[in-house]
Amino acid sequence: MNLILLGPPGAGKGTQSVLLEKRFAIPQISTGDMLRAAVTAATPMGVKAKGFMDAGDLVPDEVVVGIVRERLQQSDCVSGFILDGFPRTVPQADALDESLAQLKKKLVAVVSLQVDIDALVERLTGRRACMNCGKVYHLKFDPPAADGTCTACSGKLVQRDDDHEDTIRRRMDAYHQQTAPLEDYYRRTGLLLSIDGMASIENVQQAILSGLQAS
Ligand code: AP5
Ligand code: ZN
Repeated sequence: MNLILLGPPGAGKGTQSVLLEKRFAIPQISTGDMLRAAVTAATPMGVKAKGFMDAGDLVPDEVVVGIVRERLQQSDCVSGFILDGFPRTVPQADALDESLAQLKKKLVAVVSLQVDIDALVERLTGRRACMNCGKVYHLKFDPPAADGTCTACSGKLVQRDDDHEDTIRRRMDAYHQQTAPLEDYYRRTGLLLSIDGMASIENVQQAILSGLQAS
């Protein structure tokens, strides 16, 4: 099962991808996570990406297209994958089509999460992630058992550098200008599965699973 999760910053793409990954035993491929790992490791790609990410802008297409193309060729993608945060521009979507054609793979659905702007800001400002295992929490909607500590591994919870209000605004602009057109792009292919992302994490997951079954 080859899926894309589409939606604005904070819509719940990562949260839902992790649940789908467990359910279907296929990997979540998050370009955001891959880029953050490259920044932390200070690889040449990470050094190049850092300025764009800190500003809340998209990293250039050629950088992201290259890492996804390589990732899709790895053996764990044989039975499927969940693309989280890619594609984000029309050229990225075109490049993905090309890669999939070369790999003789087809998309099953593009899950598009619909969430109001006020809810997005609340989700992003309240998000915390474990420094050790990467698990994502929300101070109000999905809190850890103990303040500041990962329930899964006892690692320290931190706020993402780009989850501050001015950067969030810039990320939203980038979404509206460069990523929102992908809704029409995939609607035209008949793959778009529009999901109300305002419900609880569990109910959104249920809606995705029902939508996938029906599609
Ligand atoms: P990336 O890491 O992809 O960030 P994003 O798209 O801004 O998405 P987020 O991770 O912020 O949100 P999400 O939708 O995954 O929400 P989550 O599940 O965490 O990208 C970061 C940067 O990398 C970009 O700005 C760009 O610079 C670069 N980049 C990445 N990909 C790129 C690409 N393809 N091209 C170019 N540049 C790229 O949920 C958010 C919070 O809400 C959490 O706390 C969660 O617990 C909570 N929550 C989730 N669901 C619910 C719910 N239903 N109800 C209540 N709370 C919920
Ligand atoms: Zn942890």
